[in-house]
Amino acid sequence: MALIFLDTASLDEIREAVSWGILDGVTTNPTLMMRAGTADLKANTLKIVDMVPGPVSAEVISTDAAGMIAEAREILSWAENVYVKIPTTVEGLKAMKEISSWPNGRINATLIFSPLQAYLVAKAGASFASVFVGRMDDAGLDGMAVVRQTRAIFDNYGFTCKVLAASIRHPLHVVDALLAGADIITMPFGVLQRMIRSPFTDAGLDSFLRDWAKIAGQPGT
Ligand code: E4P
Repeated sequence: MALIFLDTASLDEIREAVSWGILDGVTTNPTLMMRAGTADLKANTLKIVDMVPGPVSAEVISTDAAGMIAEAREILSWAENVYVKIPTTVEGLKAMKEISSWPNGRINATLIFSPLQAYLVAKAGASFASVFVGRMDDAGLDGMAVVRQTRAIFDNYGFTCKVLAASIRHPLHVVDALLAGADIITMPFGVLQRMIRSPFTDAGLDSFLRDWAKIAGQPGT
């Protein structure tokens, strides 16, 4: 089964998605924190952790390995289901190698735009490889091809690193990620809403209820 994560730092959106009973985790990043209007990463992450039993990702802002490692030590101490997001750079790779040697070294390698980057983060011990599908599509590249290639490479070599389809823009991305064998898909709340809503379902339900009202309570029925 592919896991569904919400790509947001908004507590209201997370609360609503949790109530649907199908949410497996949450990913945040500095931009999503900015949109949620808070710079208190710890407080906001802990509020999310209170609502979501599955993985919750919080991103470092350092760009050097030592800074990332120091931030990761702090972030990973907040709760057992917190994952630290590390950017896929040379410095990030060094940090991932170190962090993954810790007993609590849960890493979400972020900003992946090629199967080679995905291969390297898996080698460095990342738990999740976040492939940014939508941003590649925005640039005229085939983002989902990178998800498919990453899936094949991880399967070829038996990596346990999960393929995470990120930067999801619309429901068709979700369909394609499911068909590509992504382990996890993280999406904005609007995409999750569009996955369940259909005007055909609404119209069908309306007509069933209208027809039922015509016959229910009639004598002899
Ligand atoms: C996920 O972890 C990423 O931060 C996110 O999917 C980025 O998506 P965007 O391209 O919509 O900013």
